[in-house]
Amino acid sequence: MKKKNIKLNVNGAFYEMEIESRITLAEFLREKLFLTGTKIGCESGVCGACTVILDGKAVKSCLILAVKADGKEVLTIEGLGLEADNLHPIQESFIKNGAIQCGFCTPGMILSAKALLDESPEPNEEDIKAALAGNLCRCTGYVKTIKAVLDVT
Ligand code: FES
Ligand code: FES
Repeated sequence: MKKKNIKLNVNGAFYEMEIESRITLAEFLREKLFLTGTKIGCESGVCGACTVILDGKAVKSCLILAVKADGKEVLTIEGLGLEADNLHPIQESFIKNGAIQCGFCTPGMILSAKALLDESPEPNEEDIKAALAGNLCRCTGYVKTIKAVLDVT
C-alpha cells in the first residue's frame, strides 16, 4: 500500500507521521490521532458531521485526503474549550440556547460557525444560514442553532 510522510499542526500540536495515501483527513483525525470529536456520517460530503477548519476554512474532512493536509493547520472540536469550565463562547451559546440534542452534528456545526465568525464577527441570520447550509441536524432543527450563533455576536 502506498504511504506518504506528512507533517501538520492539529489543535496547536505538531505531528509527523507516515500514513497510507488513500486515507481521508476524517479517518486520519479519528483513527491515527484518536480525535473522535470529528464525526463521520455520510462519507460523501452531504451531512457536514466531519467538518473541521483547515487553514482557516471550514471543510468536510471526509472529502479531503489526509496527505492534502500536509504542511497545514487543522482545528478540530477538541481544539476548542478544552476544559468543562472553559468552553468556547460558541459552545456556551449552543448550550444556553438548547441547540444540542444527540450532539452528532454539533462539532461540525460549531466549527462551521467558528469559521464564519472568524471571518465575519457580526453575521446576520442569512449569513449564518448560508454558513451552516452544509451541516445537517436530524434532531434539533435549525432555529435554535441559528439563534445560538446569533447570540455569540
Ligand atoms: Fe463528511 Fe458527511 S461525513 S460530509
Ligand atoms: Fe442530533 Fe444534530 S443534535 S443530529
